[in-house]
Amino acid sequence: MQRKKIVAGNWKMNKTLPEAEALVKEVMQAETKASVTKIFFPPFPFLVTVNNHLHNNSRDFFCGAQNCSDKESGAYTGEVATPAIASTGTSYVLVGHSERRTLFHETAALLKNKIDSCLQHMLIPVYCIGEVLQEREANKHFSVVERQLEESLFHLSAEAIRKCVVAYEPVWAIGTGKTATAEEAGEMHSFIRERIAHKYNKETADSISILYGGSCNAQNAKELFGTKDIDGGLIGGASLKAADFVTIINSF
Ligand code: PGA
Repeated sequence: MQRKKIVAGNWKMNKTLPEAEALVKEVMQAETKASVTKIFFPPFPFLVTVNNHLHNNSRDFFCGAQNCSDKESGAYTGEVATPAIASTGTSYVLVGHSERRTLFHETAALLKNKIDSCLQHMLIPVYCIGEVLQEREANKHFSVVERQLEESLFHLSAEAIRKCVVAYEPVWAIGTGKTATAEEAGEMHSFIRERIAHKYNKETADSISILYGGSCNAQNAKELFGTKDIDGGLIGGASLKAADFVTIINSF
């Protein structure tokens, strides 16, 4: 199975509604490669509006949520459930972004439940993993990433895991301007794919898109995307400017 090339923009807690609409319009009006799946991850209040912009257009643009609850519904003030997200036409959900793990103390068990909830409601989880600087310096980055896969993703069946996307985001590279080299990133991506093949099989591993995230920008995207086992990027800061995001998309 041919895996997808994906460039996703994680806007985090940025933009107002008019700014969000302007950004989506500008990106969609630009020439971008149809062979690349493009995903916008706006803040929750903009999901409906962003989806409305996409539905009138081509099928290579999608919308994603930055988070979800692991609960279906109920008295959880301020949370957003996967059926609610799916009902807006949204297709993807970020699960386990390092900011959620660190700032909001999300645990491996919670992330596992969030992934299950996404899949139950036909949402594609983009499961984010990656080590902190201390772990890399202690040469523990492979074991950390392996544990993150085992704890929250590897309970899935081969059929279910094929519906997921993985994003490798070394925490020391997020928002720091310090990108992993193509060699460092490629080595980890190959390791992740090898672990999936070991747990499931090669065909399953080859069908899963593995994105790189962490200070990926218009300058370094080409080299990263040209690296074996890197199937695209999860872009933070550089996704907030249409011109940069378009350049990154067209870096494939
Ligand atoms: P960055 O963020 O591109 O600003 O480093 C990436 C992310 O957090 O997904």
